[in-house]
Amino acid sequence: MSYSNLLFFSLALLIIKLTPISSFASTSLNEADDALFKWKSSLQIPYNSLLSSWLPLPINSNASVPCTSWFGVVCNAGGSVRRLNLTESGLKGTLHKFPFSLLHNLTHFDISLNNFFGPIPPEIRLLSKLVYLEFSGNMFSGVIPPEIGTMISLEFLSLGQNKLFGLIPPPLANLTSLKTLLLFNNQLSGQIPDEFGNLKSLIDLSLSLTQLSGSIPTSLANLSNLQTLHLGATNISGSIPQGLGSLNLTILEIDDTHLSGNLPENLCHGGMLRLLTVSGNKLTGPIPRGLKNCLSLVRVRLDHNQLSGDISNSFAVYPILKYLDISHNNFHGQISQNWSKCKKLTSLDMGYNNCWG
Ligand SMILES: *[C@@H]1O[C@H](CO)[C@@H](O)[C@H](O)[C@H]1NC(C)=O
Ligand SMILES: *[C@@H]1O[C@H](CO)[C@@H](O)[C@H](O)[C@H]1NC(C)=O
Ligand SMILES: *[C@@H]1O[C@H](CO)[C@@H](O)[C@H](O)[C@H]1NC(C)=O
Ligand SMILES: *[C@@H]1O[C@H](CO)[C@@H](O)[C@H](O)[C@H]1NC(C)=O
Ligand SMILES: *[C@@H]1O[C@H](CO)[C@@H](O)[C@H](O)[C@H]1NC(C)=O
Ligand SMILES: *[C@@H]1O[C@H](CO)[C@@H](O)[C@H](O)[C@H]1NC(C)=O
Ligand SMILES: *[C@@H]1O[C@H](CO)[C@@H](O)[C@H](O)[C@H]1NC(C)=O
Ligand SMILES: *[C@@H]1O[C@H](CO)[C@@H](O)[C@H](O)[C@H]1NC(C)=O
Repeated sequence: MSYSNLLFFSLALLIIKLTPISSFASTSLNEADDALFKWKSSLQIPYNSLLSSWLPLPINSNASVPCTSWFGVVCNAGGSVRRLNLTESGLKGTLHKFPFSLLHNLTHFDISLNNFFGPIPPEIRLLSKLVYLEFSGNMFSGVIPPEIGTMISLEFLSLGQNKLFGLIPPPLANLTSLKTLLLFNNQLSGQIPDEFGNLKSLIDLSLSLTQLSGSIPTSLANLSNLQTLHLGATNISGSIPQGLGSLNLTILEIDDTHLSGNLPENLCHGGMLRLLTVSGNKLTGPIPRGLKNCLSLVRVRLDHNQLSGDISNSFAVYPILKYLDISHNNFHGQISQNWSKCKKLTSLDMGYNNCWG
């Protein structure tokens, strides 16, 4: 018998030995560990998964199992489960049997990039100390439970890239500690709640690739900490609230929607804007004055709109700009000599306008 065969044989023996014990062992485990183990048993787990470390301990051991040996589980000194991180573990299953009430001390819960499906149960609200909830990249369906709006410790909420549908529950606007809200790539419909203007701590908001419609609430201009706003590939219409220009945005991405009207005059007021993508809309009016002094720009796409005006004096020398596309608009005027001084520029498209140079 080769060494590896021997190893396999002893491992197999070990598993056979442990399995019958587990049914008795539960009394020596604390309730939460036991409940977590039951949830694990309801999942499809790939062969060779690190979750095979989730084995119940034999009888007569005092050790708190997850805290010492379970993959992805972190506890505090008192032995209570604080973090559960099973990202990208090839897991398939539901949260139906998840022991929400026993894990009420959880602060971080990351099951992103797996194949979880079915609804997100309203019992999620029992995780009232949760700061970080990362469920993106699964197949969760149903509506976003409004109960999430009661989890007021949340700073990070990511449900992106699932199969969630229906309206965004307005109670989410109660999450005033929220810094990151990612709901992109779902079948969400209806409007962006006006109440989102209350999310005072918000830094990153992404609602791209959804069926959201209606206009962008002007209340978003009250999100003074906002840095990135992604609303691309939605059914959003109306104009971009002028007030968004006064924020210190680094990314503004609202491409392929039904936006009309002018770009905010003071766009880049904070001098932080790096990425501006508003291509594929029905925007009209001139290049906003604010862009001329926006030296932070790296990538700009204004193409496929109905923007107009003389661009001869609209642009400065941008030290880090790499990409500019203003093609397929109604611009006219002379192509600025300044472009040759933009040392980082690798792509410049002014086609399908009435410019000369
Ligand atoms: C289990 O706990 C008891 C009492 O707290 C202690 O006397 C004993 O040494 C512990 N056993 C192990 C294996 O840690
Ligand atoms: C949760 O934490 C509290 C306070 O730290 C503790 O008393 C309680 O036993 C913990 N509950 C669980 C299920 O770990
Ligand atoms: C979970 O683990 C992954 C990979 O180790 C890490 O990138 C991620 O930040 C962790 N999530 C949490 C909530 O700690
Ligand atoms: C949460 O939001 C709902 C409606 O969106 C509101 O009626 C309720 O008062 C809010 N609760 C708190 C604690 O702010
Ligand atoms: C912005 O906040 C101020 C003060 O909290 C409030 O009076 C105003 O109505 C808000 N604006 C919008 C558009 O929600
Ligand atoms: C979104 O827009 C597409 C194409 O314009 C349309 O087919 C679809 O019905 C719209 N969906 C909603 C929810 O408005
Ligand atoms: C933008 O940043 C500047 C400088 O850091 C700051 O003074 C200003 O208050 C910020 N604007 C907003 C809307 O927070
Ligand atoms: C070129 O850029 C400079 C600042 O870098 C600016 O003052 C000038 O107006 C620009 N020229 C044109 C034709 O836009």
